[in-house]
Amino acid sequence: MKVGFYGHVRQYHNIKAEIDKNMQEVMESGAFVMGPMLKRFEKELADYHGLKHSVGVNSGTDALWLAFMGLGIGPGDECITTTNTFFATAEAIWIAGATAVFVDSDPTTNNLDPAKIEAAITPRTKALVPVHLYGQCADMKAIRQIADKHKLLVIEDNAQSIGASGDGFRIGELSDAVCLSFIIQKNLGTFGDGGAVVTNNSALDQEIRRMRNHGSLKRSVHSYGFNSRLDDLHAGIISAKLKHIDDWNDLRRARAARYSAGLAGATTITLPTELPGYRHVYHLYVVETKNPAHRDQLLQYLQDNDIDAKCHYPIAIHQQEGYPWGKEARIVGEIPNSERNAARCVSLPMFPELTEAELDYVVEKVLEWEKTVA
Ligand SMILES: Cc1ncc(COP(=O)(O)O)c(C=O)c1O
Repeated sequence: MKVGFYGHVRQYHNIKAEIDKNMQEVMESGAFVMGPMLKRFEKELADYHGLKHSVGVNSGTDALWLAFMGLGIGPGDECITTTNTFFATAEAIWIAGATAVFVDSDPTTNNLDPAKIEAAITPRTKALVPVHLYGQCADMKAIRQIADKHKLLVIEDNAQSIGASGDGFRIGELSDAVCLSFIIQKNLGTFGDGGAVVTNNSALDQEIRRMRNHGSLKRSVHSYGFNSRLDDLHAGIISAKLKHIDDWNDLRRARAARYSAGLAGATTITLPTELPGYRHVYHLYVVETKNPAHRDQLLQYLQDNDIDAKCHYPIAIHQQEGYPWGKEARIVGEIPNSERNAARCVSLPMFPELTEAELDYVVEKVLEWEKTVA
């Protein structure tokens, strides 16, 4: 059996008529950039979050730096985040001209550890940037409390966890802006790149609208800006998919539960933890090998058995060659949890269309591998 890491084509086939209809609507309308489909999708996305505004941009990375810049974050300012995230979180801080300040992640969730934040705050600190890693929310209540105490902004990097929620909070409820990625492999992904910023802050909404369109809110009238628009074809595709996101996340959760039940007896790996009261949407199902030397062995074993397992992210940002490339960066305290996660993580195939037979085959092969090292 061959088990792929993604189910993009299966997903397309399952809702082909809905996607094709929206794409055709855009093509027949003749409006491909900043047209009615984008407008419609932006409203749907804002409504989905229960927030006032959503602005489509051309990637999750752009969503982050446009949000930073739109909130006035720039040179001389510091943003606190973690190093065990996708590279773009830090990259966006640097693109905005600010300093990336890294603290350790929580050992259980791998999300920004609120207990490590205050030691990193200086008079230059402007924002906290929690990443909802793998599908589970960071502890936004604790993060908001610290932000309020020190008068800081909070920008959620929610490239991975649309539809997740925490114990008594929703995404977007406790922050200044939520940044999403719609790159194909995300829980809500288009056939290419896309992103959005969702916010209740009307001034931020307007500023990002201006910046994403060459500094223009009115034809031929410009101030300094960029080109970072979400094309209407992508908006149509994501609009069709948005109607299914909660069901698809439920399917991910059911598949995660089957993995966790099948692997419950494994002794050489730790399984992902869902915090009580949280809705984890399993963008990724990440196990960690207890012995870091086992990580590449497990990965190789799965790949040798036609299972496309991957690592997210095997080289933490501060471990990348050349870090920090002349950019402003600071690590506060030790960050053993971020480093542990990077050294031991293995992502098993996870997508809503994964069949039970495929899932059980992955479980069988992980347990078979375990016998070779136990
Ligand atoms: C946590 C995180 N932040 C930011 C991004 C950047 O998104 P994009 O690839 O759409 O630029 C991604 C995904 O790619 C991500 O996983």
